[in-house]
Amino acid sequence: MWEYTEKVKNSFLHPQNVGEIADADAVGEVGSIVCGDALKLFLKVDKESGKIKDARFQTFGCASAIASSSALTEMVKGKTLDDALKITNKDIADFLGGLPDQKMHCSVMGREALEAAIANYRGESYPSETKEKVVCKCFDVTEDKIRKVAIENHLTTVDEITNYTKAGGGCGECIPDIEAILRDLWFIKPPERPATPKKLTNLQKIALIQEVIESEVRPGLQADNGDIELIDIDSNKVTVALRGMCTGCLKSDVTIKGIQEKLREFVNKEIVVESLQ
Ligand code: FES
Repeated sequence: MWEYTEKVKNSFLHPQNVGEIADADAVGEVGSIVCGDALKLFLKVDKESGKIKDARFQTFGCASAIASSSALTEMVKGKTLDDALKITNKDIADFLGGLPDQKMHCSVMGREALEAAIANYRGESYPSETKEKVVCKCFDVTEDKIRKVAIENHLTTVDEITNYTKAGGGCGECIPDIEAILRDLWFIKPPERPATPKKLTNLQKIALIQEVIESEVRPGLQADNGDIELIDIDSNKVTVALRGMCTGCLKSDVTIKGIQEKLREFVNKEIVVESLQ
């Protein structure tokens, strides 16, 4: 279970400014239901003062997404657009007394919706017209976003990038690219992989599979309110069951493939992962 502050719980149970503004001056829409979180922000702007006089939201997501969206609308009201743009994702998290690390992506989504709405008001495109390179295809996260979020929040590890953007939290194929971006950004050494014994006994293999699932797979799934149960290991066939939000997820095939890649990387290249229906 996540450790939520009282403010997060209260903002989730009693969110402020829910709904749409029919004659909104600006609308910012980010995220996607397929990726698990989406937020639509509506702003009403006073033409004379340039201040935001009303803000409302519709969101699809977890408790943190709802709380972050509610906080954002409370924070922007009464601000000029330029001042509103100074709000960072950390400000949103701080307003809530903090968010669990694995849920920081909700505060980033709030900040992005605000940028998108203000760009919409100003007749600008969001994100910018330049063709951005998508690094994480599972969650449609671009290199620009990874760099920006890493710099703004001083993130140096892939796990942190996953917490803030979700990138890397699915099949894992983008992880080498994220590592390369972080190395380029911070001039850091490539992370060291745990050494894999050359020849494993059955007991060593089972223990290693359990360890990889615990350290490399489960945290990413739990970040999205999902989970995994190891059902059986028969030679190189590993049977698992996806639990929580992962049960029946449209992307479960991608998730299983990602788990297989992890186990092949750390344990044995022959491993095949099957999902128990
Ligand atoms: S491509 Fe990034 S997690 Fe799948």
